[in-house]
Amino acid sequence: MSADQLYPPSTELVENANITRWMRDRGIASYDALLARAADYEWYWAEMAKELDWFQPWTRTLRWNTPFAEWFLGGKINIAYNALDRHARGPRKNKVAYIFEGEPGDVQRWTYYDLWRETNRFANALKRLGIQAGDRVTLYLPMIPQLPIAMLACAKIGAVHSVIFSGFSSTALKDRVNDAEAKLLITADGSFRRGKAVPLKANTDAALAAGTPSVRHVIVVRRTGLEVSMQSGRDLWWHDLTAAESDHCESVPLDSEAVLFTLYTSGTTGKPKGIVHVHGGYAVGVHTSLKYVFDLKETDIYWCAADIGWVTGHSYIVYAPLMLGATSVMYEGAPDWPEPDRWWRIIAREGVTILYTSPTAIRMHMKFGESWSRAHDLSTLRLLGSVGEPINPEAWRWYHAHVGGGRCPIMDTWWQTETGAFMVSPLPVTPLKPGSATRPLPGIAVDVVDQSGQRSPDGEGGFAVIRQPWPSMLRTLYKDPDRYRQTYWSRWPNLYLTGDAAMRDADGYLWFRGRADEVLNVAGHRLGTSEVESALVAHPAVAEAACIGVPHDVKGDVPKVYVTLKAGHQPSPQLADELKQWVANEIGPIARPEAIEFRDRLPKTRSGKIMRRLLKAETLGKDVGDVSTLED
Ligand code: PRX
Repeated sequence: MSADQLYPPSTELVENANITRWMRDRGIASYDALLARAADYEWYWAEMAKELDWFQPWTRTLRWNTPFAEWFLGGKINIAYNALDRHARGPRKNKVAYIFEGEPGDVQRWTYYDLWRETNRFANALKRLGIQAGDRVTLYLPMIPQLPIAMLACAKIGAVHSVIFSGFSSTALKDRVNDAEAKLLITADGSFRRGKAVPLKANTDAALAAGTPSVRHVIVVRRTGLEVSMQSGRDLWWHDLTAAESDHCESVPLDSEAVLFTLYTSGTTGKPKGIVHVHGGYAVGVHTSLKYVFDLKETDIYWCAADIGWVTGHSYIVYAPLMLGATSVMYEGAPDWPEPDRWWRIIAREGVTILYTSPTAIRMHMKFGESWSRAHDLSTLRLLGSVGEPINPEAWRWYHAHVGGGRCPIMDTWWQTETGAFMVSPLPVTPLKPGSATRPLPGIAVDVVDQSGQRSPDGEGGFAVIRQPWPSMLRTLYKDPDRYRQTYWSRWPNLYLTGDAAMRDADGYLWFRGRADEVLNVAGHRLGTSEVESALVAHPAVAEAACIGVPHDVKGDVPKVYVTLKAGHQPSPQLADELKQWVANEIGPIARPEAIEFRDRLPKTRSGKIMRRLLKAETLGKDVGDVSTLED
């Protein structure tokens, strides 16, 4: 990497950065000195934890019983208290927390006081329905203010939320409700997407009809006005339920290790993993990362254009910005609706200063062309962010030039649902290299190792691992500690396996290459190849299926599947379409295969494992490599 490709931060940015003040207060003179000082990671995280409000201070920073971590032991905290209560009672009471824009163009401004009162009313309603600390509540809601409100209300009373992305199908919803054994399901009549109302309550009804024995009540938000069927005794309207509730509800002091939420993510088997996060450490991790990486200031208008249904929205639309008392934009609909400049209009109207999005979205805007962003005043932007997949240098440069006006640094943040918060990312003091997430953040030990778990030499690719615990790490997999140990900690002793391939260069910068396992990254969302395969073999015509990822110029990867049919079924274009739709119905539209190829048989190892690697090499026209284990 030659020096002319380095993008050093401006002196002004460095001088005024939150991290610079933090370093100055502690006599730390440089970025390298900061990383060295934070090698004492218990010290570093304890310093960061002091920035939050604790009902009772912790007595021990970390207990590390590999691979099970507990942070801030003995401490009592509630993340909702930090996100709402302390602001509603302080100088930020009338500051806008969310500028919400619905897809039809309706705008709502929620102050901290508004948000706090509605959360309190809803928390009281939850209690009235018998929801107690530790109970699981499934949220199947679009990007509307009631989603963060319901999450915060759960957190207030110690209930555990499980948000299911509203683009998931009723089958995916049912499976996740049943895994969580949720007592309560919260949804909306529908949501607006590309000018249409998506029938969420009808999807929910289909999930319930398929069998969700734990669910006692369904709360429905009226959003679209779609007609819905309400089952008496079970289904309740949000507005009826909260109308008479009190505006006051105290956040309960919780053990710092109390579970805050579970969030399902794809793994290498057909069954999604319930990632478990807790109040204390997660609060510290997301608060620290947003404050110092995106350098959030009192006057910023911050916009994370993700969906709350994924971890990015949990951490960086809901919990971190609210804990920081920020003003955030929240947008309901499609980025190109009704025209490709929807985002640029919002940025210009609200004077957005920080934009955080994904390479897929950037590449989509690149395709529309820069005339759309050029037509709007984006001069208020000062920082940009990227997440979800490796950003190709071309997209990086386009984003830098045509959104950031050449003046905004891009924070390429590498992290995962499991890590809760950013792990590898620049700080405002870090010189940037387009395409690299730069270096591990202070207190974080991400590294690259070879097949045997030894540190890879600089410049050589390998597997990304994490060498030590961090506060916002997942604590376990829901109801499955063995799978937790097996999935992340069994390949090499004491190394957390991220599943990503990466390379460390001579400057210590990390270059993430994508997944090194049977997981695809479709438009920044994880999809297990085996999930697609299990959906397909559930179709009456399908005998066997193999799914691979093929590169796509906007979405990163897209699924392609190879299918063998059962006797009596013939390949046809109609059947291919039917199978694509089947997968979309079983999992959700993001899983819809881009292509289906019928085969008489699939290549297998002698032990009967389908060799996806071979299909992939063939499809991409690459060398098939070692085929000595091939059966035939
Ligand atoms: O492969 C990496 C990719 O997304 C995976 C995590 O996916 P998920 O848990 O759904 O969380 C996405 C949002 C945090 C990682 O294993 N990934 C995420 N961010 C980056 C990335 N790959 C390269 N660069 C990134 N900045």
